[in-house]
Amino acid sequence: MTGLLIAPSVLAADFGHLADEVAAVDRAGADWIHVDIMDGRFVPEISFGPPIVRAIRKATAKPLNVHLMVVEPERSLASYAEAGADHLLVQAEPGSTIHLHRVLSQIRELGKRPGVVIDPATPIVWIEHVLHLVDIILVMTVNPGFGGQHFLPEMLPKIATLRMICNDRGLRPHIEVDGGQSMDTVRSVHAAGADVIVAGTAIFGGDDYAQAIAAIRSCGIEAGPAS
Ligand code: DX5
Ligand code: ZN
Repeated sequence: MTGLLIAPSVLAADFGHLADEVAAVDRAGADWIHVDIMDGRFVPEISFGPPIVRAIRKATAKPLNVHLMVVEPERSLASYAEAGADHLLVQAEPGSTIHLHRVLSQIRELGKRPGVVIDPATPIVWIEHVLHLVDIILVMTVNPGFGGQHFLPEMLPKIATLRMICNDRGLRPHIEVDGGQSMDTVRSVHAAGADVIVAGTAIFGGDDYAQAIAAIRSCGIEAGPAS
């Protein structure tokens, strides 16, 4: 099992000081910066769009891991790419995009790393035929739309099955988990096969970001025998 990457979710940052917050988690040891785009249609809330991504881009050199919780992501992929996204992750559900295979190919053509996201109720079979197109599979461990929700442990077998399918096919994507992640969940998701942890509240909710990131990282399964 590989080591963990930690991706703080800026949705939980103080938006009044966004650039400082991004720079602070960068200094605190973040591997990627997770950026949640919400359009008020795929999910109820609206977060922000390309101009804010551009501002985040200026505040860090770390990879921007952009999670598009939007309807018709194909309409805005080029804008987010131009704004500085490194990874573009699209939801697999037809309520987001009808032509998932095409959208993932478009991300690659833009020179960005494609990722596919599945909601808690979305079965693995919906992404089985696009796994070879992606660098990242993001398994939602809450229903998307809000920070600060509780981890859904019933996602653990889904993570394990996905890792098994990828291994069987010789594919080595990152498996990222998003939602309700904390020191209490990291060991089990890592053991199941996830290697990237998105955390909003668990990092920005406290005062010491470096300590929070180190604590989450230390919960990976290399840290010692499972208790
Ligand atoms: C939820 C977002 C998450 C969210 C995670 O729809 O995709 O990235 O910011 O926040 P926490 O870690 O607080 O659950
Ligand atoms: Zn997210």
